[in-house]
Amino acid sequence: MRETVRPYAWWVVLGVAVGMMWTIARISVPTLTGEAIDRGIERYDSGALVGWTVAILAVGSVQAVCTGLRRYVAFRLALRTETDLRMRLVAHLQRLHFAFHDTAQTGQLMARANTDIQQIHMVVILIPLTIASILTMVGVASILIARSPLLALFALGTLPFLNIAATRFTRRMYPVGLALQEELGDLAGVVEESVTGVRVVKGFGAERLQVDRLAVEAESVYDRSIDQARLRAGFLPLIDLLPTLGLVGILWYGGHQVLEGNLTIGTVIAANFYVLMLIWPLRMLGMLLGQISRASASAGRIHEILATEPEIVDTPGAAPLAPGPGEVRFEGVRFAYGSGRPVLDGLDLVIRAGEAVALVGATASGKTTVARLVPRFYDVDSGRVLIDGADVRETRLADVRGAVGIVFEDTFLFSDTVRSNIAFADPEAPMEAVRRALDLREPTSSSRTSPRATRPSSASTATRSPAASVNGSRSRGRSSPIRAC
Ligand SMILES: Nc1ncnc2c1ncn2[C@@H]1O[C@H](COP(=O)(O)OP(=O)(O)OP(=O)(O)O)[C@@H](O)[C@H]1O
Ligand SMILES: [Mg+2]
Repeated sequence: MRETVRPYAWWVVLGVAVGMMWTIARISVPTLTGEAIDRGIERYDSGALVGWTVAILAVGSVQAVCTGLRRYVAFRLALRTETDLRMRLVAHLQRLHFAFHDTAQTGQLMARANTDIQQIHMVVILIPLTIASILTMVGVASILIARSPLLALFALGTLPFLNIAATRFTRRMYPVGLALQEELGDLAGVVEESVTGVRVVKGFGAERLQVDRLAVEAESVYDRSIDQARLRAGFLPLIDLLPTLGLVGILWYGGHQVLEGNLTIGTVIAANFYVLMLIWPLRMLGMLLGQISRASASAGRIHEILATEPEIVDTPGAAPLAPGPGEVRFEGVRFAYGSGRPVLDGLDLVIRAGEAVALVGATASGKTTVARLVPRFYDVDSGRVLIDGADVRETRLADVRGAVGIVFEDTFLFSDTVRSNIAFADPEAPMEAVRRALDLREPTSSSRTSPRATRPSSASTATRSPAASVNGSRSRGRSSPIRAC
């Protein structure tokens, strides 16, 4: 999180500066009020009273302006870091290898990109407010101690208990916050599967089952949220009670001091104001402590992804893919998904340039896997895959991916025009190329339909088509991005 905020250190400095101005303005009001009472009202000096009142008005105006500024700076900083973090996370997810996405749950990833990042946003918003609150507390304590150390002791003597209670509270909040974020991820997973798999759910008449699964997850989110609310409910009354105890201390001790003539009424009233002034900073602190626990659980979940390094990357000194006819060669290839049993073992295969080859075999015999190894969706465990004699692992990944086109068995349409879906990876592709791609798929289709004609209503998946059983393509030299080729 520190890394995300660092580029905007100036905004943090500005937030703190505005917060300090706000604090100075705020804590000087009770002092000015005390002076107005002692020098104006007590001495029947209306001129002095007007002077002090005008001073209070001026300071109040500064405080009001600072409130607005502080809020703007806090939100600007929080929204900026939220946007940056989300971009970083999504960009990183795109870079991660297929094997990561094979095991990652979409719902969990969505939750991390949404609710987890929002938790961090909430903490960033609270940073300038909390700094201002802490400054207020320090200011109040210093002023009270300077005026009368014993009065300060009666007013603030209970504050150390807050420290103990806060430590216990944050320690107990962390696991609950983490569990809640996990449950939110699971809930998002069930919602995502219910929506994307709606045809399967309906086809099997399993709506009731899916609703029940959703209910279980929703109840878990509810339970964890209630756990969190219960912890807060136990901690926050203490925060409200502390200033009240301070007020009792001031009235008891300060009142007796006034009766004995050791303190002025103005000093006691000012001290009263100061203690009342602690209510809001203490509440802020309570909110922040609760939020920090949840946000650090979220930050951990986001870090888990950011710390995962993509496994399929350019090797040092990877060479560009030289233009060539497009021969694909498998030499003694052995490959297994993760730690499972080998799907391919000792595969030798040569597909010469311009040759069309159909791999025919039983279901799950590894035909699709063969196609996936050419553009390095996965790396072989042993053996080599070569394009025009160049080992794909020693060639620049972008070149390999750019040279190989794949028609996936499960097609996925983005929420865009048909034309954009065909020219997905090369949005600038000329219309001519788009039509050629369409004709390759179905020779007469481009004359029958304009690729601009229809727009899918939303991203969607289509079931596998029988025509997709020939895997892979060797479109060297041609711009691979024409996805349909
Ligand atoms: N992402 C993956 N993670 C783990 N195992 C996988 C993955 N993809 C495929 N497999 C397994 O690898 C084996 C080969 O799968 P593959 O999809 O290559 O077979 P296929 O010959 O294309 O089958 P089909 O005729 O159904 O298309 C199967 O046992 C399959 O379950
Ligand atoms: Mg297959």
